[in-house]
Amino acid sequence: MTKPVQNNSSPATDPSARFTADQAAQATLLLGQSIDFPQVDQIRHCPKAALVIVQGRIAWHGPAAELSVTQQSFATVVDYGNAWIIPGLIDTHVHAAQMPVIASWGEQLLDWLNRYTFPAERRFEDPVIARQQSDVFLDALLAHGTTTAMVFGTVHEAATDALFEAARERRMALIAGKVLMDRNCPDYLSDTADSGFDASARLIHRWHGTDRLQYAVTPRFAPTSTEAQLERAGALQQEARGLYLQTHVSENPDEVSWVQSLFPKSRDYVDVYQHYGLLHERSVLAHGLHLTDREWTALREHQARIAVCPTSNTFLGSGLFDFARAEREGVVLGLASDVGGGTSLSQLVSAAEAYKVGQLQGYKLTANALWHQMTAGNARALHLDTQIGSLDSGKMADLVVLDSTRSANLSARLAHANSLEEALFATLILGDERLTRATWVAGERLYSA
Ligand code: GUN
Ligand code: ZN
Repeated sequence: MTKPVQNNSSPATDPSARFTADQAAQATLLLGQSIDFPQVDQIRHCPKAALVIVQGRIAWHGPAAELSVTQQSFATVVDYGNAWIIPGLIDTHVHAAQMPVIASWGEQLLDWLNRYTFPAERRFEDPVIARQQSDVFLDALLAHGTTTAMVFGTVHEAATDALFEAARERRMALIAGKVLMDRNCPDYLSDTADSGFDASARLIHRWHGTDRLQYAVTPRFAPTSTEAQLERAGALQQEARGLYLQTHVSENPDEVSWVQSLFPKSRDYVDVYQHYGLLHERSVLAHGLHLTDREWTALREHQARIAVCPTSNTFLGSGLFDFARAEREGVVLGLASDVGGGTSLSQLVSAAEAYKVGQLQGYKLTANALWHQMTAGNARALHLDTQIGSLDSGKMADLVVLDSTRSANLSARLAHANSLEEALFATLILGDERLTRATWVAGERLYSA
């Protein structure tokens, strides 16, 4: 999230991408105002755009006037008028089982986990509930315009199967994993070093690389795993190529002290993960609010990602993420909701909160940088940028249609916007899931308001 130089441009059109009427007869055509954010300093905007979708991918994107065949030639045509067609939003850290405890009063992290979160996750021990709730969760993501997420499951193997099955049915690109947790948690949520390893290995072999699904080895956080389990988490990463690692780090001061007492030989919190080989470029560590100089250096050197979770951090009173420091260190960031610690699945709401967290520390995040982060930036953080995150031809047709007329407040504000950047900024500050008119995944419309 660096400060951009404004650089508006139109999508590059490929004149060789001419469609015959026969090809169009198999294709979907979306019309609207296209906007994407391929670089932190670049907005591409086409006020009257056409997006042609063939076999789930964007086959052509450019001014509608340059289409080589008539609109009537297409199998399906959807005209969104002046609504914005943008790349699907990406959430780099969220919990599938925590929607029922979103907005729970009063506690900070450790009490919040014990009082609200663990009991909520227990419900996923029933595979039928897990399947129903996974459907509810993924449909909620889509209604919020989020087409890809990195997701914490629960400790239950069958519930993690249910989550992957639900994502596969929707053809979503999802990264998820079964939580590993063998101490400092209720017995009803505890696995062991061995059972956690075995269940994760089975899930990896069933799901990693199936369709658009990938697996993340998921130790909850250092306090809930024994050294034996962390060691086995390190070994799990050898089960397949391209596995991810997701966990939490340095979220709350009491948590940081607890980690120090549980791991007296470790130099610091990050060192616990580093020691077990859990720190690498496919590691996504949520929060990172109270890091030491050494920890920042280790994160940079191992190219680990931090998932920044601003609505969670203010809601749980955890602290303020230091954007300036991350920029100086060159640590790659993702933006994330962290629901149910976070208070909204809307990435617009996360971006607005990130802006306010920056303001409290004298760091200005621009509209450009924030929209880039929600799309191409988060795709890069998750190593998915060759597939999603922009409207380039060849990318998967994961799209969201945002319609400002769905909010009277926002419409009134936009009537006074003098530039696209001003409109983009007001939209992320005032907008939320109510703006979502439609969400498309792999060229299929999965949500329609
Ligand atoms: N640290 C360990 N588990 C959790 C969780 O579920 N949510 C958040 N915000 N932090 C955690
Ligand atoms: Zn979390």
